[in-house]
Amino acid sequence: MATRLSIERPGRRKGRDVDTKELIEWTDRYLMTTAKRFPLALVRGEGARVWDSEGKEYLDFTGGIAVTALGHSHPKVVGTMREQAATLLHVSNLFHIPQQTHLAKLLCEHSFADRVFFSNSGAEANETAIKLIRKWAKEHGASDRGDIITMRGGFHGRTLATVTATAQEKYQHGYEPLPGGFKYVPFNDLRAVERAIDSRTAGVLVEPIQGEGGVNIPDEGYLPGLRKLCDEAGILLVFDEIQTGMGRTGKLWCYEHAGVSPDVMTLAKALANGVPIGATLATENVARVFTPGTHGSTFGGNPFATAVGLTVFSTLVEERLPERAARMGRLLSDRLEAVRSKRPNVVKEVRGKGLLIGVDLSVPVGDVLAACRDRGLLVLTAGDNTLRLAPPLIVDEASLDRAADIVDRALGDVRT
Ligand SMILES: Cc1ncc(COP(=O)(O)O)c(C=O)c1O
Repeated sequence: MATRLSIERPGRRKGRDVDTKELIEWTDRYLMTTAKRFPLALVRGEGARVWDSEGKEYLDFTGGIAVTALGHSHPKVVGTMREQAATLLHVSNLFHIPQQTHLAKLLCEHSFADRVFFSNSGAEANETAIKLIRKWAKEHGASDRGDIITMRGGFHGRTLATVTATAQEKYQHGYEPLPGGFKYVPFNDLRAVERAIDSRTAGVLVEPIQGEGGVNIPDEGYLPGLRKLCDEAGILLVFDEIQTGMGRTGKLWCYEHAGVSPDVMTLAKALANGVPIGATLATENVARVFTPGTHGSTFGGNPFATAVGLTVFSTLVEERLPERAARMGRLLSDRLEAVRSKRPNVVKEVRGKGLLIGVDLSVPVGDVLAACRDRGLLVLTAGDNTLRLAPPLIVDEASLDRAADIVDRALGDVRT
């Protein structure tokens, strides 16, 4: 399919097709180099498939990094976007916004939460959670209570506060001085949390499954144990479900697997299937510390993003996509386990929940990623040497079979 670049440069013919080589040169020249990009440009998507500017088709098991839960160009999402864009794109939070209110109501009705604040990204949702924790602690204890315990290997965003909450030096290096008030402990270690809690602690922030950190799944008792420790200390528990929420792990929220709920939960990624949005959900007791003027966002919760969020959330619930993710996730894990049995010297472990799956390798993951791409499958990495698969929740069985087959062949391509 011919794709047009709407950008023009002096002396160039109008409306020319994408020249991939030139596009890559422009990227290298005009963009700040924060991402190590694959040498291709994706220009079209449908369901679990995408096409690059050369017309090559791929199975997209990156899902925009666990964003496009309903797949690309979902007709209901496209319909809502068209309609809402032509009706009212943006108004400020000085006014009531029906779509925002309805989405908040739906989220509360389907979770532990009583109230929602909308923002534009995961990092912002976590910033909001950090502010909420600290304000709550000030109002419910000593004025010097503000420390937040986070887990090594976690990931919470790239703003200064959230990169500090992210207990990984590689994301923080060079940005010092970092804001204070964060304490790090190993993931999946309740004793370490117990030891770290003191009179200055205001809360614990944790991903129920560490996504970026390597699809790390804690022991069964970990989240209930954290709940208990927080309750005993009178501090708040925040689950960052930015990657694990919205059905990804086979339940609407990952915390449901553990049978405990948090005081605060953050969402973003799949909430509007690619339209930027963030949400911080909280119980009434916590949410009430925000009063007019204490927090805000220009774009957060605008009619466009929340209209799309409404469509995404209702589709997810009506079409029982979390259950589908559980079923499809089991199939994909089984297929990948078969690959592991066949190639035990290169595949160390397959782990995951629902459609968030990590494959630990003993060969360089970058080589396997490139071999998958050459064979028409786009996948992610995570942690040190883990292949991460996060296909859309609407993915079908034939695509799972094909993906597992490509991973198998790609592993065969890589020298051991
Ligand atoms: C668990 C988790 N929290 C927060 C973030 C940050 O989200 P954003 O990139 O939208 O700021 C991410 C992004 O990968 C994430 O996986």
